[in-house]
Amino acid sequence: MFSKKLIVALDFSSFQEVNEFIKYIDPLKCLVKVGLQLYTSCGNKVIELLAEKGFEIFLDLKLHDIPNTVKKTINEISSSSIVMTTIHLSGGEKMIDDACESKGNIKIIGVSLLTSLDHNDVNELYNRDIEQQIMVLKDLASRTKIDGIVCSPKELPLLSDFKKLKVVPGIRNIYGEDDQKRVLSSKEAYAYGADYIVVGRPITEAADKAKAFNDYL
Ligand code: C5P
Repeated sequence: MFSKKLIVALDFSSFQEVNEFIKYIDPLKCLVKVGLQLYTSCGNKVIELLAEKGFEIFLDLKLHDIPNTVKKTINEISSSSIVMTTIHLSGGEKMIDDACESKGNIKIIGVSLLTSLDHNDVNELYNRDIEQQIMVLKDLASRTKIDGIVCSPKELPLLSDFKKLKVVPGIRNIYGEDDQKRVLSSKEAYAYGADYIVVGRPITEAADKAKAFNDYL
């Protein structure tokens, strides 16, 4: 799996849309990401379809619950054809440790700070600024057995000495296409140390989807 660097976000709401779209992408060249919306609407049926088509699957449910519940959920996830999944680092060390105990061969990636939170939100929640909170979460991720961090491209310079995987959404090779503001191109993200990039709409909503897919490889 490490030869593939591109994760295509399948932010669709139906099985049919997924089935239509995946004709344009190659399971030998990318992973696919199934998030809360698609998993809630289609469940394991869509996981089975993607596995049948040969895709490696990143199940992005951003788990955040008591350690026992997260551990048991990871146990369910690890018995399916999923290769990577997410939990919130802010669930704390015990939750992370317990999740990692039942992960088997899958990679668990920790969500650091949601990019929807601004300085005021982070200050209210943690009494720290964004950079300080990222450092706290980086240290937590470093000392546990978690496999990596999900971070915005803007945070990559803060994580230059982080030795685990960096999975990076917020990627645009053409600027100004949509609502994403704090973006980097795929080349820039790799130059700043991204191990995987997550790209959704620039490929899923492109007029020429096959070309857009190739542009992000
Ligand atoms: O369409 P777009 O390329 O913006 O999609 C990026 C994907 O990454 C979406 O599935 C979005 O939910 C996810 N994302 C994330 N964490 C962020 C920003 C986006 O997981 N901080």
